[in-house]
Amino acid sequence: MKKISVSFLSSKNIPMDLRKLNDTDVDFIHVDIMDGKFVPAKTMPFREMRHIYQYTSKRLDVHLMVKEPSKFIPLYAELNTEYIAIHVESEEDIIKNLELIKSFSIKTGLAINPDTPVKELIPYLPYLDEVLVMSVYPGKGGQEFIVEVEKKIKELKALLQSYHLSTVINVDGGVNNITKKYCEDADIITSGSYVVSSSDFQEKITSLR
Ligand code: DX5
Ligand code: ZN
Repeated sequence: MKKISVSFLSSKNIPMDLRKLNDTDVDFIHVDIMDGKFVPAKTMPFREMRHIYQYTSKRLDVHLMVKEPSKFIPLYAELNTEYIAIHVESEEDIIKNLELIKSFSIKTGLAINPDTPVKELIPYLPYLDEVLVMSVYPGKGGQEFIVEVEKKIKELKALLQSYHLSTVINVDGGVNNITKKYCEDADIITSGSYVVSSSDFQEKITSLR
């Protein structure tokens, strides 16, 4: 059975939606962080985001869509965090940042944009607990799933198998009960608007598994 991570990026009432999600069997809360540089949009600063623990006891899956991950990793490592994913397209030294994540005993993730080839991940595979495959261009919620990404997920799965790695595949963006069929090889599915814009979170989460 797949694990489900839910992003609250498109939430209109974050505290309320986090409380509602806490009453579901969702596996992770996906925390999208944007710096206004790596992507045009900017999410709330850490001093506000840190209050998330007041509304949820779920483990967090942090997605850093930022130019300089090293500024954010120590902050998000303080929370109830299972994974921190940085982008393979980010500007700093990737291995240093993955080691920084590990130094806090948090699982490492590397996110890859729709147009970036899978082979870009190869140098980092030994350092990774998770690959976050973007099925939309990062920057906002509510976009359509890019169907071509299915091929990439399969290619990545084969690559991980060829190296006998148990790195998990998380697919992020535009996932709903229809597009989940393109994510067969994913271990975790991240969905935002499909869940948080509905009136029954649990029903939507169950429909994704
Ligand atoms: C896109 C984010 C995604 C997004 C998922 O920039 O990284 O995590 O919030 O939300 P939906 O499911 O609405 O695409
Ligand atoms: Zn995300």
